Amino acid sequence: MATKVHHTKSVHLEDNILSNLESDLALEMLRVVEAAAIASARQMGTGDRKKADQVATETMRRVMETVPMRGTIVIGEGERDEAPMLYIGEKVGRPAREGVIYPEVDIAVDPLEGTNLTATGAPGSICVLAASERGGLLHAPDCYMEKIVVGPACRGAVDLDAPTAVNLKMIAKALNRDVEDLVIIVLDRPRHETLINEIRRAGARIKLIGDGDLAPGIAAAVRGTGVHAVMGAGGAPEGVITAAAMRCLNGYMVGRLTGYTDEQRERMAEYGITDVHKTYTADELAPGENIIFAATGVTDGPLMQGVRFFGEGVRTSSVVMKMASRKVRFVEGIHMEEGRDVSVRF
Ligand code: FBP
Repeated sequence: MATKVHHTKSVHLEDNILSNLESDLALEMLRVVEAAAIASARQMGTGDRKKADQVATETMRRVMETVPMRGTIVIGEGERDEAPMLYIGEKVGRPAREGVIYPEVDIAVDPLEGTNLTATGAPGSICVLAASERGGLLHAPDCYMEKIVVGPACRGAVDLDAPTAVNLKMIAKALNRDVEDLVIIVLDRPRHETLINEIRRAGARIKLIGDGDLAPGIAAAVRGTGVHAVMGAGGAPEGVITAAAMRCLNGYMVGRLTGYTDEQRERMAEYGITDVHKTYTADELAPGENIIFAATGVTDGPLMQGVRFFGEGVRTSSVVMKMASRKVRFVEGIHMEEGRDVSVRF
């Protein structure tokens, strides 16, 4: 993280420890999402979405306490009075030893993105977070965001105010294919009836999803996933986390807040949002220069497999990205039960 390490009377060894800690924050965050995914995957198919979310949240919070950072939750499970943990403003991270100052980090979490998907065993749920130096993530309220998410080739090609047919033409042109070849992901909601009709009329193919528009957003920025864009209104917190991923992947996204309550609108100024009608790009939703993104699949998805339990342990599929070093890592984790052998099956 770019966050400054303030030198007290530190000796060289401490300097080394600090720089190692800083450079390892992405892998620390990987540990957090892996643990949350393993815990919530045990709830797959139980039909209890609240419980699945609760175990993901509790686990994420618990593991965060072992991460050497001075973290602040900026997007979380809600306001302090409505969420017991990972609420907005909550301080997280391992308490520092004397003389060691950990980096200050803003964190946006979605402990379980796709609670229904996990509860029903449907594909596409993930445990996910984004982190940045302070001020690097927009503090979006828990309202909706109209979004278009596309890959690097489509940078600047889409506009929330343009007709859908024009956006699709521009995406097709940027990807050097026909509109008929595009696959557009849309949340299956009555509010999207017009959008869906417009996409159909334009001739593009649609994949309607029951929940979870964050993972497809990431997939849209990765060639070879068969996803070319995500369109429509989904959660604003998910929008900011998607934007963080776009910063790491060179993807492109436009988003505009919508569906907010009067109370949320009044509070937006506190969040630093002065123009509620503004169309944001990913660079504005996640302006940090030191963004980290980590996600682990809970159920199978376009980029990551879900958690697999086997005799000797647990296997997870994750992606961890670090903007500053331009690293995108797909990580297969094998979490061994104590005292058991591990067999690696690819
Ligand atoms: P949860 O994981 O909190 O259940 O939300 C999933 C989700 O489908 C998001 O992916 C999406 O952005 C949002 O909910 C859409 O909200 P709504 O269900 O109100 O249309």
